Amino acid sequence: MEENFKLHLGDSYKLIKQIPTASVDLILTDPPYNLSPYSTGNIEFTWRKDLNNDLAEWDKVEFKPADWVSEFKRILKPKGNIFVFCSYNLVGKWHEAFDPEFDTFQFMVWHKTNPPPKVFKAGFLNSCELIVCMWDKGHTWNFGNQKDMHNFIETPICNGPERLKDPHHPTQKPIKVLGHIIKIASNEGDMVFDPFMGVGSTGVAALNLGRKFIGIEIDEKYFKAAEKRLKNAASELKLF
Ligand SMILES: C[S@@+](CC[C@H](N)C(=O)[O-])C[C@H]1O[C@@H](n2cnc3c(N)ncnc32)[C@H](O)[C@@H]1O
Repeated sequence: MEENFKLHLGDSYKLIKQIPTASVDLILTDPPYNLSPYSTGNIEFTWRKDLNNDLAEWDKVEFKPADWVSEFKRILKPKGNIFVFCSYNLVGKWHEAFDPEFDTFQFMVWHKTNPPPKVFKAGFLNSCELIVCMWDKGHTWNFGNQKDMHNFIETPICNGPERLKDPHHPTQKPIKVLGHIIKIASNEGDMVFDPFMGVGSTGVAALNLGRKFIGIEIDEKYFKAAEKRLKNAASELKLF
Protein backbone atom coordinates (compact mmCIF):
# COMPACT_ATOMS: atom_id res chain seq x y z
CA MET A 1 0.00 0.00 0.00
CA GLU A 2 1.24 3.50 -0.80
CA GLU A 3 2.54 5.31 2.28
CA ASN A 4 0.38 8.17 3.52
CA PHE A 5 3.12 9.75 5.56
CA LYS A 6 6.90 9.84 5.74
CA LEU A 7 8.73 11.36 8.69
CA HIS A 8 12.42 12.26 8.86
CA LEU A 9 14.53 12.81 11.97
CA GLY A 10 17.20 15.43 11.27
CA ASP A 11 18.02 18.90 10.05
CA SER A 12 15.51 20.23 7.54
CA TYR A 13 18.14 22.54 6.00
CA LYS A 14 19.85 19.36 4.73
CA LEU A 15 16.93 16.95 4.37
CA ILE A 16 14.76 19.27 2.27
CA LYS A 17 17.27 18.68 -0.55
CA GLN A 18 16.05 15.05 -0.77
CA ILE A 19 12.48 16.13 -1.56
CA PRO A 20 11.79 15.84 -5.28
CA THR A 21 11.24 18.97 -7.37
CA ALA A 22 7.57 20.02 -7.84
CA SER A 23 6.28 17.28 -5.54
CA VAL A 24 4.53 19.23 -2.74
CA ASP A 25 1.04 20.80 -2.92
CA LEU A 26 1.09 22.67 0.40
CA ILE A 27 3.97 23.76 2.63
CA LEU A 28 2.39 24.36 6.04
CA THR A 29 4.94 24.99 8.75
CA ASP A 30 5.73 26.63 12.07
CA PRO A 31 9.46 27.41 12.13
CA PRO A 32 11.51 28.99 14.95
CA TYR A 33 10.38 32.55 15.81
CA ASN A 34 13.64 33.99 17.24
CA LEU A 35 11.67 35.58 20.05
CA SER A 36 14.24 34.91 22.77
CA PRO A 37 16.10 38.29 22.33
CA TYR A 38 12.80 39.99 23.28
CA SER A 39 12.13 37.84 26.33
CA THR A 40 12.36 39.56 29.70
CA GLY A 41 13.22 36.24 31.35
CA ASN A 42 11.20 34.27 33.84
CA ILE A 43 8.83 36.09 36.18
CA GLU A 44 9.47 35.08 39.78
CA PHE A 45 6.83 34.72 42.48
CA THR A 46 7.06 33.82 46.15
CA TRP A 47 3.65 32.15 46.17
CA ARG A 48 3.73 30.04 43.00
CA LYS A 49 6.16 28.54 40.53
CA ASP A 50 7.90 30.98 38.15
CA LEU A 51 6.20 31.93 34.89
CA ASN A 52 8.41 30.71 32.06
CA ASN A 53 8.99 33.50 29.55
CA ASP A 54 11.63 31.68 27.49
CA LEU A 55 10.42 29.62 24.59
CA ALA A 56 13.03 26.95 23.86
CA GLU A 57 16.66 26.35 22.91
CA TRP A 58 15.69 25.75 19.27
CA ASP A 59 14.32 29.28 19.12
CA LYS A 60 17.75 30.77 19.84
CA VAL A 61 19.24 29.59 16.51
CA GLU A 62 18.90 32.46 14.04
CA PHE A 63 16.15 31.76 11.49
CA LYS A 64 16.38 33.58 8.15
CA PRO A 65 13.33 33.29 5.85
CA ALA A 66 15.57 34.14 2.86
CA ASP A 67 17.42 30.82 3.34
CA TRP A 68 14.22 28.95 2.40
CA VAL A 69 13.06 30.71 -0.77
CA SER A 70 14.86 28.61 -3.35
CA GLU A 71 14.13 25.19 -1.81
CA PHE A 72 10.47 26.06 -1.09
CA LYS A 73 10.06 27.20 -4.71
CA ARG A 74 11.82 24.10 -6.05
CA ILE A 75 9.68 21.54 -4.19
CA LEU A 76 6.32 23.35 -4.59
CA LYS A 77 4.02 22.38 -7.47
CA PRO A 78 2.88 25.29 -9.72
CA LYS A 79 -0.61 25.25 -8.11
CA GLY A 80 0.84 24.98 -4.60
CA ASN A 81 0.45 27.20 -1.53
CA ILE A 82 2.75 28.13 1.37
CA PHE A 83 1.43 28.96 4.88
CA VAL A 84 3.91 29.78 7.65
CA PHE A 85 3.26 30.68 11.31
CA CYS A 86 5.28 33.79 11.94
CA SER A 87 6.19 36.02 14.89
CA TYR A 88 5.92 39.84 14.62
CA ASN A 89 9.71 40.29 14.49
CA LEU A 90 10.04 38.15 11.33
CA VAL A 91 7.03 39.37 9.29
CA GLY A 92 9.10 41.94 7.38
CA LYS A 93 11.79 39.38 6.63
CA TRP A 94 9.27 36.87 5.26
CA HIS A 95 7.77 39.61 3.09
CA GLU A 96 11.13 40.85 1.85
CA ALA A 97 12.27 37.34 0.87
CA PHE A 98 9.04 35.85 -0.52
CA ASP A 99 6.95 38.72 -1.92
CA PRO A 100 9.22 39.24 -4.98
CA GLU A 101 9.06 35.51 -5.74
CA PHE A 102 5.27 34.89 -5.71
CA ASP A 103 2.25 36.57 -7.30
CA THR A 104 0.59 37.03 -3.92
CA PHE A 105 1.79 37.49 -0.34
CA GLN A 106 -0.92 37.76 2.35
CA PHE A 107 -1.40 36.90 6.00
CA MET A 108 -3.96 35.30 8.29
CA VAL A 109 -4.56 36.02 11.95
CA TRP A 110 -5.16 33.28 14.47
CA HIS A 111 -6.89 34.76 17.54
CA LYS A 112 -6.36 32.68 20.67
CA THR A 113 -9.37 32.83 22.98
CA ASN A 114 -7.35 31.65 26.02
CA PRO A 115 -3.88 33.29 25.79
CA PRO A 116 -1.53 33.16 28.80
CA PRO A 117 -2.33 36.03 31.23
CA LYS A 118 -0.02 39.01 31.72
CA VAL A 119 0.14 39.61 35.43
CA PHE A 120 1.56 43.17 35.25
CA LYS A 121 -1.00 44.47 32.70
CA ALA A 122 1.73 46.54 31.02
CA GLY A 123 0.97 45.55 27.43
CA PHE A 124 -1.30 43.51 25.19
CA LEU A 125 -1.76 39.79 25.75
CA ASN A 126 -0.11 37.63 23.11
CA SER A 127 -3.52 36.64 21.84
CA CYS A 128 -2.86 36.78 18.08
CA GLU A 129 -0.51 34.85 15.86
CA LEU A 130 0.23 35.69 12.25
CA ILE A 131 0.37 33.15 9.46
CA VAL A 132 1.99 34.49 6.28
CA CYS A 133 0.90 32.88 3.03
CA MET A 134 1.97 33.01 -0.59
CA TRP A 135 1.05 31.53 -3.95
CA ASP A 136 1.07 32.01 -7.71
CA LYS A 137 -1.93 32.54 -10.03
CA GLY A 138 -4.04 29.41 -10.54
CA HIS A 139 -3.24 28.07 -7.05
CA THR A 140 -5.52 25.58 -5.29
CA TRP A 141 -8.17 27.52 -3.37
CA ASN A 142 -11.28 25.88 -1.92
CA PHE A 143 -13.81 28.37 -0.64
CA GLY A 144 -17.44 27.67 0.20
CA ASN A 145 -18.62 31.25 0.71
CA GLN A 146 -17.46 34.82 1.45
CA LYS A 147 -17.64 34.19 5.20
CA ASP A 148 -14.99 31.48 4.85
CA MET A 149 -12.74 34.00 3.14
CA HIS A 150 -11.89 36.10 6.22
CA ASN A 151 -8.17 35.92 6.93
CA PHE A 152 -9.03 35.24 10.55
CA ILE A 153 -9.60 32.17 12.66
CA GLU A 154 -10.48 32.00 16.35
CA THR A 155 -9.79 28.98 18.56
CA PRO A 156 -8.32 28.25 21.98
CA ILE A 157 -4.63 27.35 22.20
CA CYS A 158 -4.00 23.63 22.43
CA ASN A 159 -5.35 22.25 25.67
CA GLY A 160 -7.32 19.33 27.09
CA PRO A 161 -6.72 15.87 25.66
CA GLU A 162 -5.21 17.34 22.46
CA ARG A 163 -2.24 18.84 24.37
CA LEU A 164 0.62 16.34 24.70
CA LYS A 165 1.99 16.03 28.23
CA ASP A 166 5.06 13.88 27.58
CA PRO A 167 6.79 15.42 25.81
CA HIS A 168 5.18 18.81 26.32
CA HIS A 169 5.87 20.98 23.26
CA PRO A 170 5.72 24.72 24.05
CA THR A 171 4.22 25.65 20.69
CA GLN A 172 1.97 22.71 19.79
CA LYS A 173 -0.61 24.03 17.31
CA PRO A 174 -4.33 23.11 17.38
CA ILE A 175 -5.54 20.66 14.72
CA LYS A 176 -8.52 22.97 14.11
CA VAL A 177 -6.33 25.86 12.86
CA LEU A 178 -4.17 23.56 10.72
CA GLY A 179 -7.20 21.72 9.35
CA HIS A 180 -8.85 25.02 8.33
CA ILE A 181 -5.77 25.97 6.28
CA ILE A 182 -5.36 22.49 4.78
CA LYS A 183 -9.02 22.46 3.63
CA ILE A 184 -8.69 25.87 1.97
CA ALA A 185 -5.31 25.38 0.37
CA SER A 186 -5.15 21.74 -0.79
CA ASN A 187 -7.26 18.90 -2.16
CA GLU A 188 -7.78 15.31 -1.05
CA GLY A 189 -4.79 13.15 -1.96
CA ASP A 190 -2.44 16.18 -2.04
CA MET A 191 1.00 16.20 -0.42
CA VAL A 192 1.46 18.47 2.63
CA PHE A 193 5.00 19.20 3.87
CA ASP A 194 6.18 20.52 7.26
CA PRO A 195 9.97 20.93 7.69
CA PHE A 196 9.60 21.99 11.39
CA MET A 197 6.92 19.54 12.44
CA GLY A 198 7.42 19.46 16.25
CA VAL A 199 5.05 16.80 17.58
CA GLY A 200 3.43 16.31 14.17
CA SER A 201 0.25 18.43 14.45
CA THR A 202 0.29 19.38 10.73
CA GLY A 203 0.64 15.71 9.85
CA VAL A 204 -2.33 14.62 11.98
CA ALA A 205 -4.51 17.37 10.48
CA ALA A 206 -3.38 16.37 6.96
CA LEU A 207 -4.16 12.64 7.42
CA ASN A 208 -7.55 13.44 9.00
CA LEU A 209 -8.44 15.31 5.81
CA GLY A 210 -7.27 12.62 3.39
CA ARG A 211 -4.00 14.33 2.44
CA LYS A 212 -0.49 12.80 2.47
CA PHE A 213 2.27 14.16 4.65
CA ILE A 214 6.05 14.55 4.82
CA GLY A 215 7.52 15.95 8.05
CA ILE A 216 10.98 16.74 9.39
CA GLU A 217 11.96 17.31 13.04
CA ILE A 218 15.43 17.67 14.54
CA ASP A 219 14.62 16.85 18.18
CA GLU A 220 14.33 13.11 18.76
CA LYS A 221 11.76 13.32 21.58
CA TYR A 222 9.43 15.44 19.45
CA PHE A 223 10.10 13.23 16.41
CA LYS A 224 9.11 10.08 18.32
CA ALA A 225 5.96 11.78 19.65
CA ALA A 226 5.05 12.82 16.09
CA GLU A 227 5.62 9.28 14.81
CA LYS A 228 3.33 7.88 17.51
CA ARG A 229 0.61 10.46 16.85
CA LEU A 230 0.65 9.88 13.10
CA LYS A 231 0.57 6.08 13.47
CA ASN A 232 -2.42 6.42 15.84
CA ALA A 233 -4.18 8.81 13.45
CA ALA A 234 -3.55 6.48 10.50
CA SER A 235 -4.80 3.45 12.38
CA GLU A 236 -7.95 5.29 13.56
CA LEU A 237 -8.55 6.25 9.93
CA LYS A 238 -7.80 2.63 8.92
CA LEU A 239 -5.09 3.79 6.51
CA PHE A 240 -3.10 0.63 7.26
C1 LIG B 1 7.53 26.14 16.46
S1 LIG B 1 7.96 24.48 16.69
C2 LIG B 1 6.76 23.59 15.73
C3 LIG B 1 5.66 23.01 16.57
C4 LIG B 1 4.61 22.27 15.75
N1 LIG B 1 3.80 23.20 15.00
C5 LIG B 1 3.68 21.40 16.62
O1 LIG B 1 2.46 21.60 16.61
O2 LIG B 1 4.21 20.53 17.32
C6 LIG B 1 9.42 24.35 15.69
C7 LIG B 1 10.07 22.99 15.70
O3 LIG B 1 11.16 23.03 14.76
C8 LIG B 1 12.17 22.17 15.23
N2 LIG B 1 13.41 22.57 14.54
C9 LIG B 1 14.19 23.65 14.78
N3 LIG B 1 15.23 23.70 13.91
C10 LIG B 1 15.09 22.62 13.09
C11 LIG B 1 15.82 22.13 11.96
N4 LIG B 1 16.93 22.74 11.53
N5 LIG B 1 15.37 21.01 11.33
C12 LIG B 1 14.24 20.37 11.76
N6 LIG B 1 13.50 20.79 12.82
C13 LIG B 1 13.92 21.90 13.47
C14 LIG B 1 12.17 22.39 16.74
O4 LIG B 1 12.75 21.30 17.43
C15 LIG B 1 10.68 22.58 17.04
O5 LIG B 1 10.08 21.36 17.45
